[in-house]
Amino acid sequence: MSKLNVAVVYGGRSGEHEVSLRSAESIIAKLNPDRYHVHRYFVSPEGKWSPKAIQPEPGANPEIDVVFPITHGTFGEDGTMQGLFELADLPYVGPGVMGSAVAMDKEVAKRVLRDAGVPTVDFLIQRRGGLNPDAIIDKLGLPVFVKPANLGSSVGINKAKTRESLIAALDEAAKYDSKVVIERAIVGREFECSVLGNEDMSASYPCEILPEREFYDYEAKYILDTTRIELPANLDEAQTTTIRKLAVDAVRALDCEGMSRVDFLLETATGQFYVNEVNTLPGFTSISMYPKMWEHSGIAYADLLDRLIDLAIARHARHKATQFRR
Ligand SMILES: Nc1ncnc2c1ncn2[C@@H]1O[C@H](COP(=O)(O)OP(=O)(O)O)[C@@H](O)[C@H]1O
Ligand SMILES: [Mg+2]
Repeated sequence: MSKLNVAVVYGGRSGEHEVSLRSAESIIAKLNPDRYHVHRYFVSPEGKWSPKAIQPEPGANPEIDVVFPITHGTFGEDGTMQGLFELADLPYVGPGVMGSAVAMDKEVAKRVLRDAGVPTVDFLIQRRGGLNPDAIIDKLGLPVFVKPANLGSSVGINKAKTRESLIAALDEAAKYDSKVVIERAIVGREFECSVLGNEDMSASYPCEILPEREFYDYEAKYILDTTRIELPANLDEAQTTTIRKLAVDAVRALDCEGMSRVDFLLETATGQFYVNEVNTLPGFTSISMYPKMWEHSGIAYADLLDRLIDLAIARHARHKATQFRR
């Protein structure tokens, strides 16, 4: 059996460049050397590829059988990178162009989820230049979460409890995106759940995130070592069933085949679960929750990589069977 040539694309132009390096090292270390030849494609923070770039023309990358992109965030997880692989006619791990783009935009994702009947926290949209704190307080009250529409890692996100801090939070979020999402703040707990599959999707057992801070902010994610994880999450059987079903519903609604990590909020007062967001190229370091939740659910890290690659190839084959011209 000849080995499959896997192009691991990593680094990239987003604020999550460093995380991507760690994700890639874990993946490369665990890809079964009996099955795969690994080819590294590093993308610098400026967007330069080395040792060379993937070419957009079909057939122009004969050394690649399948791509494993692990470029988190902007220009990697938002459909742009996925567009390159589509042009190149290469199978690739993770969701396609549309699902990636929709999941990345917090407003569009929430609209699609709402339309599919998947519970998501009430929100408002404001634009840079048209920021209006009183309209927010009128409609949502306080406290609220203020977020740039298209970013990650909690960058530019603040919880506002007063009118003054709301004004500051709006200005801060508007630095990172001309579109700002404002949400009612949920008092409760936070969970994550991994989803895997193309047409047939399954959800892992969920974990709970305990940031031990006001919320799961940038410091809690990458700098401090205070966040505790409970895996499996301390939920009863009915709640576990609900969260796993909602995770698959959310991923289907956003059309995110391959893999996604779905993040939840559970409101203490009402017992209601809300889908907070769907991450289409979740962290993949040795301590990242996407692979950890699968490990706990019976799929070891290396086997998960095999499955993701098989799913990428199957999706590409299905796509090839589709006619694009009369
Ligand atoms: N409506 C909300 N209510 C309570 N906490 C929230 C809400 N929205 C976000 N958070 C907190 O902020 C964190 C970051 O928000 P999130 O939307 O996940 O942004 P990012 O895409 O940057 O991860 C969440 O993990 C959670 O701790
Ligand atoms: Mg998040």
